[in-house]
Amino acid sequence: MKASALRAPGSTGEPLAAPVAAGAARGLSVERVTMRFGGLVALGDVSLDVAPGEIVAVIGPNGAGKSTLFNVITGIYRPTQGRVLIGDLDVTGRPAHAIASLGVARTFQSSRLFTGISVLDNVILGMHALSPPSVLQALLFPRRSRNELRQAAAQAGRILQSVGGHLYDQRYRLAEELAQADRRRLEIARALAGEPKFLLLDEPTAGMDDHDTDVLIQDLLRIRRDRPDLAIVVVEHDMRLVAALPDRVAVLEYGSKIAEASFEEIRRDPRVQEAYLGSDSVDD
Ligand SMILES: Nc1ncnc2c1ncn2[C@@H]1O[C@H](COP(=O)(O)OP(=O)(O)OP(=O)(O)O)[C@@H](O)[C@H]1O
Ligand SMILES: [Mg+2]
Repeated sequence: MKASALRAPGSTGEPLAAPVAAGAARGLSVERVTMRFGGLVALGDVSLDVAPGEIVAVIGPNGAGKSTLFNVITGIYRPTQGRVLIGDLDVTGRPAHAIASLGVARTFQSSRLFTGISVLDNVILGMHALSPPSVLQALLFPRRSRNELRQAAAQAGRILQSVGGHLYDQRYRLAEELAQADRRRLEIARALAGEPKFLLLDEPTAGMDDHDTDVLIQDLLRIRRDRPDLAIVVVEHDMRLVAALPDRVAVLEYGSKIAEASFEEIRRDPRVQEAYLGSDSVDD
């Protein structure tokens, strides 16, 4: 594979590993986004399209702009330039809760679980469709409130089963008692609780050993099988996951997208090797 097959920054051509096919109108699009912090260009003219059901990995060295990309997509940052679209809807600059309610869920690079409550309750809190009953409502309509909670608990249990591992068996434990890998898994379960169309995972294998990483890869493959329309964007440093999971890999370096293609093409691209993989990591 020649390096020229990959899209270089500033190139206007479409990537050859043409990613966005049918259903793109319902997809997520980052259009020529620039994000500046003072003089620092954290993202420079970055575009990315993700179609329903696709898995896309975003890789790149520390500080390349990966988390910033997620923060722009999810409405934490308003981009300096460019647009974020969900389907045909321009959501640029909308507040995070509005973008979440349009079906974009995420996990964070550092854990954001509610550690002092149970595993099950963490998932229930992820169900933004469920409005927690007010004290007055609970007093006036105790049976309805109890029924809603019972249904929510059952749904949360199903989600915990769907992410695999032994999380379901640990549903009544406090989140803080979980092993690191299970905490990561619980964050994914909580993100899934809102029944998103787009799931953004920021370094889900951080702190995991090889075994846990392999289990997570299987979990994500199962989530994909169970939810064929769910698109997943995963920021990841672990090449085992990047090799196994995504349909497509985008590479960021110093805020620019330097390549976007299949993993096989990416790993042979000299620019990517130099920027990220280490020049001795790909020599076959
Ligand atoms: N709120 C902010 N204010 C100022 N600079 C920021 C802010 N957020 C990110 N940056 C800077 O933007 C650049 C990109 O950061 P970002 O966190 O997106 O990198 P990353 O690719 O996720 O790195 P890592 O692999 O270490 O998580 C870095 O130089 C970072 O210091
Ligand atoms: Mg990051």
